[in-house]
Amino acid sequence: MNAAANPAHRVASTAFGDQKPGTSGLRKKTVEFQRPHYLENFVQSIFDTQPLRGETLVLGGDGRYYNDVAIGIIARMAAANGVARLLIGQHGWLSTPAASCVIRKYQAAGGIILSASHNPGGPDADFGIKFNAANGGPAPESVTDAIFRRSQVIEGYFIDPGAPPVLDRAGGQSLAGMKIEIIDPVADYLELMRQLFDFKAIGELIGSGFRLCFDAMHAITGPYAKAILEDVLGAPAGTVINGDPLPDFGGGHPDPNLAHAQALVAALWQADGPEFGAASDGDGDRNMVLGRRCYVTPSDSLAVMLAHAERIPGYAGRVIGAARSMPTSLAVDRVAQALNLPCYETPTGWKYFGNLLDAGKVSLCGEESFGTGSDHVREKDGLWAVLFWLNILALRRVSVQEIMNEHWARFGRDYYTRHDYEGLSSEAGAQIMAALRESLASLPGQEHQGLRIEKADDFAYRDPVDDSLSAAQGVRIFLGDGARVVYRLSGTGTSGATLRIYMERCVRDPQALAGDPQAVLGDLVALGRELAQVEEISGRSAPSVIT
Ligand code: G1P
Ligand code: ZN
Repeated sequence: MNAAANPAHRVASTAFGDQKPGTSGLRKKTVEFQRPHYLENFVQSIFDTQPLRGETLVLGGDGRYYNDVAIGIIARMAAANGVARLLIGQHGWLSTPAASCVIRKYQAAGGIILSASHNPGGPDADFGIKFNAANGGPAPESVTDAIFRRSQVIEGYFIDPGAPPVLDRAGGQSLAGMKIEIIDPVADYLELMRQLFDFKAIGELIGSGFRLCFDAMHAITGPYAKAILEDVLGAPAGTVINGDPLPDFGGGHPDPNLAHAQALVAALWQADGPEFGAASDGDGDRNMVLGRRCYVTPSDSLAVMLAHAERIPGYAGRVIGAARSMPTSLAVDRVAQALNLPCYETPTGWKYFGNLLDAGKVSLCGEESFGTGSDHVREKDGLWAVLFWLNILALRRVSVQEIMNEHWARFGRDYYTRHDYEGLSSEAGAQIMAALRESLASLPGQEHQGLRIEKADDFAYRDPVDDSLSAAQGVRIFLGDGARVVYRLSGTGTSGATLRIYMERCVRDPQALAGDPQAVLGDLVALGRELAQVEEISGRSAPSVIT
């Protein structure tokens, strides 16, 4: 406990045993965070374990329900815990990538970001909190473990009795000797984007009549996209749809994929619709990219970006390598190989990229789950990916579909699909994975669905920077010709288990590049279900979500 804090501001509390942050922070139902002392205990556990006294701290969130209340509480606690300077995004807004940018730019000791990412928001939905370190990235496991351990024994917290800051008023304020700056949530991020991309060329593309549509899904990227795409780059008003952040995201599910970004998909599938479409999630770190009647898989998007990176101002002459999460398709590996660059395969979760980025081993990285990023911040970054694509389109002046066709003709097409079985019981999820793991040794050489298994393993990752080992990261089944089936359980769900099965196959035959992924991967899908005994163990005969 901080001896120097004024004891008059100490509130006694009892520990909650369930404040274990996952890879993306602590995510719970909003009502959990509203329980007396729940948020406070977690935040005090951050102050008790992290050296923030006398330092600069960044604070902001995705604007969901309870964001403003939580910011008021955290600001008062920061003051009582001796933080010297608190930077808060105006209205309490900071997208996750913008928070990462601000932490780095102002050399803050860390940041607290309020978000449950793509989970729905509102009084009956989800809320979340995460701590980012001084490098701007999600706290490493050693830090989240320390916060968790502290939260299990905590008996009280410090909170200043003063009024919370006024979030809508830009400029300086103070609270019990702590300086508060309410900053423009967009300005620093916009400046960074200007350094990376050719805004003039993108502006000319847009000025030439090129039409785009960005779906902010009533979440945090609305103000960012309006400022950057409409005000700075000159796209007409209305280019950004669902652009006002709402506490419940308009009742929607702010996850940029074909299922949830329906308004965008409908617009892009019209014959005379926009030429380019994109969407981002609740806190602005995910992205989906579309061309007219053309869906770009996140795995392909990363590969296309790497193939063009040398022509993008912020990356020219400094592309050193790439990384992808294990279940992400091998498309980027083929580009890296052609460019003679290293390509790292990491476990799922952005934190593994952080070490590689900090050590200067990779420039671009991405996940199949709509996350793409680079060394410009330490989080994945939705709008950055959109600007990267716009820069490519400004250079090339061809359609998204033409870019994809050309890419597949050169590197082959990695057909890819992910089947999710959501809401399984925890027991069924564990049993499916345990049975798969037990069968690993006997699988090579077996034939299923006309496919021969060459190799099978449970992915383990040795971090090339700190030498740490992450074992049991997912079961991989390798079939001939680079085809794969991968299994893992979601680590981000709030109840039960979600089984994810990922299937992919690289096709090089120029006649076979325009197929339907579900058809091209039909045998792998059947094999995936059969090997995992999904129906026998869980009773489910079909996935709940296919992407
Ligand atoms: C999911 C994604 C993963 C991403 C994470 C946080 O995790 O699959 O790539 O890093 O959300 O956005 P999962 O639920 O699969 O553990
Ligand atoms: Zn997110």
